[in-house]
Amino acid sequence: MFEKTPIPQELRPTDPRFGVGPSLIPQEALEALRRSGASLLGTSHRKMPVRDLVKEVQDGLQQYFNLPAGYEIILGNGGATFFWDMIGLGFVEKSSVHFVCGEFSDKWYKAHKNIPWIEAEEIRVEYGEGINPREIEGHDLICCTLNETSTGVQFSEMPELKNPNTLMAVDATSGAGQIKIDFAKVDLYYFSPQKVFAADGGLYIAIMSPKAIERALRLGKDKTRFIPESLKFSHAIENGRNNQTYNTPSIANIFLLNEQIKLMNKLGEDKVIDEALRKAKLMYGWAEEKSYLDPFIKKPEFRSQTVITIDVDEKYSVDEMAKLLRKEKIAIDIEGYRKLNRNQLRIALFHNVSYDNLDKLTKIISGVIEGSFD
Ligand SMILES: Cc1ncc(COP(=O)(O)O)c(C=O)c1O
Repeated sequence: MFEKTPIPQELRPTDPRFGVGPSLIPQEALEALRRSGASLLGTSHRKMPVRDLVKEVQDGLQQYFNLPAGYEIILGNGGATFFWDMIGLGFVEKSSVHFVCGEFSDKWYKAHKNIPWIEAEEIRVEYGEGINPREIEGHDLICCTLNETSTGVQFSEMPELKNPNTLMAVDATSGAGQIKIDFAKVDLYYFSPQKVFAADGGLYIAIMSPKAIERALRLGKDKTRFIPESLKFSHAIENGRNNQTYNTPSIANIFLLNEQIKLMNKLGEDKVIDEALRKAKLMYGWAEEKSYLDPFIKKPEFRSQTVITIDVDEKYSVDEMAKLLRKEKIAIDIEGYRKLNRNQLRIALFHNVSYDNLDKLTKIISGVIEGSFD
């Protein structure tokens, strides 16, 4: 359908990476990694140059998020998926409740469901709808996903918890950095860095409140739970305090993460978020204006400011269009989440994806669909 469409040179984005993760890593960060030469890569993660780097990451995040006193940052191998298991095995006292609004929140729920010493309950909405977390009696951990990467839904309100034994855990993988949150209301906030923070996969970063640290260390001493060594919070916390990880990390990855934190700290969180909102306005405005497009998320308060999902009229195959744009090296990874099975665009509004390139992408997609380049 779209094979012969010539796309004007002046509309070509300067970078084709619009995917929601792994996301665009700036050339400058890769250059900086190359320049680091023999000083970091190939050196021990137990010695100062790498520990200084980890400390810079911890301090940089502390500055970016302006964390309350007593919050600690741990890092470890395995990414958010691994961290779901850590939480289920060693952080839930008796029961977790999960607010499920897409594939990732569902996977987190499933990671807890079969652990013999806890119970897990899900509160689910149709994909495409949003849901705000709330305290529910009988559950000591509330599990919610700041930004559901599969559907492009973010939550809009955080509850005040009444029961002092109820803790709040937030999977912030694709929202961290671009969606403001009151950390005083969160006990465990974690993400993989291959989204807004523009590093590579395989790492988790978790921010823990003093209450979260107390609970994790206390439950770690419970002899009735078998927790594999690699999944023990106590190791992660102890190593975090020493600016290390429990086992050997990818130093290159931590380096890239640090470059992005420095970049974002130059602006500060508020300005980064303003820019995200400007891009979101551009994209949702476009989706609402064109008759063949429709924002997947209907309620504006749940529309993501990091990942936009747009349904496209079935007459125009997104798969075919995406294939053309990939072949032409104009845009990569703009298809919807595969399991949603919709004729849908899913595009990152992450910090490194520029407003101008998004603007060009909208003009290209519209031009291709409307046949104005033929
Ligand atoms: C919201 C969310 N949670 C968890 C994950 C899993 O992250 P990882 O693949 O790094 O384990 C992803 C991955 O895209 C995600 O988007």
